[in-house]
Amino acid sequence: MSRIERLEGLEILDSRGRPTIRVTCVLAGGATGTASVPSGASTGTAEALELRDGDARRYAGLGCRRAVGLVHGEVQAALAGRELASGPDLDRALIALDGTANKSRLGANTVLGVSLAFARAQAIERGIPLYRYFAELLDRPVASIPRPMINLFSGGKHAGGQVEIQDVLVVPLLAGSVDDALATTFDVYRAAAELSAARYGMRALTADEGGLAPPFGSPEEMLALAVESIRRAGREPGVDVALAVDVASTHFHSRGRYCVGGRELDGAGMVELILEWIDRYPIVSVEDPLAEDDWPHWSELRRRAGASVRVLGDDLLCTRPDRIRQAVESGAADALLLKVNQVGTLLEAADACRAARSAGWSVTVSARSGETEDDWLADLAVGWSADHIKVGSITQSERLAKYNRLLAIEAETGLGLAGMRG
Ligand code: PGA
Ligand code: ZN
Repeated sequence: MSRIERLEGLEILDSRGRPTIRVTCVLAGGATGTASVPSGASTGTAEALELRDGDARRYAGLGCRRAVGLVHGEVQAALAGRELASGPDLDRALIALDGTANKSRLGANTVLGVSLAFARAQAIERGIPLYRYFAELLDRPVASIPRPMINLFSGGKHAGGQVEIQDVLVVPLLAGSVDDALATTFDVYRAAAELSAARYGMRALTADEGGLAPPFGSPEEMLALAVESIRRAGREPGVDVALAVDVASTHFHSRGRYCVGGRELDGAGMVELILEWIDRYPIVSVEDPLAEDDWPHWSELRRRAGASVRVLGDDLLCTRPDRIRQAVESGAADALLLKVNQVGTLLEAADACRAARSAGWSVTVSARSGETEDDWLADLAVGWSADHIKVGSITQSERLAKYNRLLAIEAETGLGLAGMRG
C-alpha cells in the first residue's frame, strides 16, 4: 500500500516550445516521482481531451495553468491520504473523479501526469526499475527490448506540409541491440542528409521529431530517397534496413477524398496507391494508410497487403480498447500504435495493449511530436514488451532521452531486440 502525501503540478515547455504539464507525487514514506506529459500535433478525433487554458493572450491559448491548478486543488484533495495498492487503483480513482468519457473535465494531460508520477514514486518506494513496475502492471515478464522505428524524413503536420505523408522511418532489421540499431541509423541518416543537401541544395533542416524535411516533390520522391540513403550507407534495403511509413492520411482527407502527390483519390484509389508503395519500396509497416473513419478501406487494405507488412492504427484506434476490438472484428489492422496520452491513464493503455496482444497484433509504443526530456516512455515500451518503439529521429534531446534510456536498460539487463515477423 502507498499513501499519497502531496501532489505538485508545474507548467513546463515541450519540444515545440508549447506549454505542457509536469507532475510530482510525494508518497507518505518520502518516495517522490516526477513525470512530464507529451502532446501531439497530428491528433485523432477519438483522442481524450487535452486541457488547455484557452486564454488567447498567453501562449495562444495553449497554457496549462488550469491543469496545474487541478493537480494542486481538486485532484490532490481527492487523493491525498488515500491508501492505494497500485497504479490501477489510482487510475480508477482518477477516472471516477473526472467522470467523463474523454477526460474532458480534468483533461487527459492532468490525469496522465498524476498517473505517471505515482507510478514512478511507487517504483522508487519498492526499489525496482520503472520498466519492471510497468511489466507487473501487465503481468508479463520483461523479455526483450523493442526494435526502434527511427524517423528519417518528415512531412505533413510535422514539417509544414511540404509533402503530404508524415514520416518515413528506418527499421534496422539485422540489428541485435539498440546500440547496433542506432549506429546503423546514424549511417543512413548521415547519407540522407548528404543526399538531401546535394539534391535540394540546402542545409539539412529538421522537422518536429528531428527528421530531415527537404522540399520533396512527391511522397514517392521521399520513399525513393530513403531507399537510396540506405544503399549509400552501405546497407541493403529490405535486408539490412527496411522502411516504415506513417502516412497519417486523416490529415489530407476530407469528404471521402485523399489529396496526395497532386492526385485526388477516393478510398479505393488510396488502397491501390498504398499497395503500389508496398510493392515498390521495402516497407514493413504502414501506419494510418487510410483516414480514421474510413473503416471499409482499412479492411480491404489489410486483406490485400500480404503478411510481410503490418497495418498499424494510430488515429484509427487512439489507444482505445473499444476501437481496437472493432478493428479486430473487421480485420482493419494488425498492429497497435500505443500512445498513453490518447486515453489518459496507464490502466486504459494497458487494456488497449492486452486487447491488441490477444488478437495476435504487434504493438508499437510511440512518443508524441511534442515531447519533453522525460524518458518514462522507454521503460514503458520495455515493460510492456512492445515489438517496436517510435520516438522520432536520432537528433534532439527530447528524442535521445528515450534512446539513451533504452541503451541504459540494455546495458543493465542484457536483453536482446525483439524479432520481426517473417
Ligand atoms: P503526433 O503524431 O504526436 O503529432 O500526434 C505522431 C504520429 O502520428 O505518430
Ligand atoms: Zn501516426
